[in-house]
Amino acid sequence: MKNIVLIGFMGSGKTVVGEHLANTLKTRFFDTDKIIEERLNQSITEIFEDKGETFFRDMESQVIDELTAYDNMVISCGGGSILRSDNVGYLKQNGTLVYLKAPFTVLYDRIKASKTRPLIATKQPEETARKLWEAREKAYEGVADITVDTAQKSIDEIVDDIVEVVKSSD
Ligand code: S3P
Repeated sequence: MKNIVLIGFMGSGKTVVGEHLANTLKTRFFDTDKIIEERLNQSITEIFEDKGETFFRDMESQVIDELTAYDNMVISCGGGSILRSDNVGYLKQNGTLVYLKAPFTVLYDRIKASKTRPLIATKQPEETARKLWEAREKAYEGVADITVDTAQKSIDEIVDDIVEVVKSSD
């Protein structure tokens, strides 16, 4: 099986859907943010504070490059990972990119209380998040092989949708 790569904005459910999907498919699950945190023994927020966003993005690219040497995996990618075309190139070599799509209001509702997302830790988090989302929305659509609408669905329904679409596109 090609890798199934979950992409989408913060709060789109990439990690929780990825874990359930990997369980259903009896395959391995990797989360790029988690790998980076484990390697540096720091949280994403600490990494942004201590080392800066560019350092984080370079590390993210390195992890993606390494992961795509393997197949049969579910990979959840940080929300900004597809902004570098090299990353998209690596991920597409042996992966199907699945965009977990939801309206901004739904996404923001899920992330507004989060303390783990440095990009929206500003004085006006909603405004910041909305601008990021508007700037990225087309990029997610553009690189995705498959788009799954997640707004009104349970985790199990989203997983079922992905399994069905991925199987039929094999
Ligand atoms: C980011 C999303 C985060 C994390 C980092 C940057 C982004 O991951 O990689 O805070 O640029 O959208 P999640 O999408 O898992 O929240």
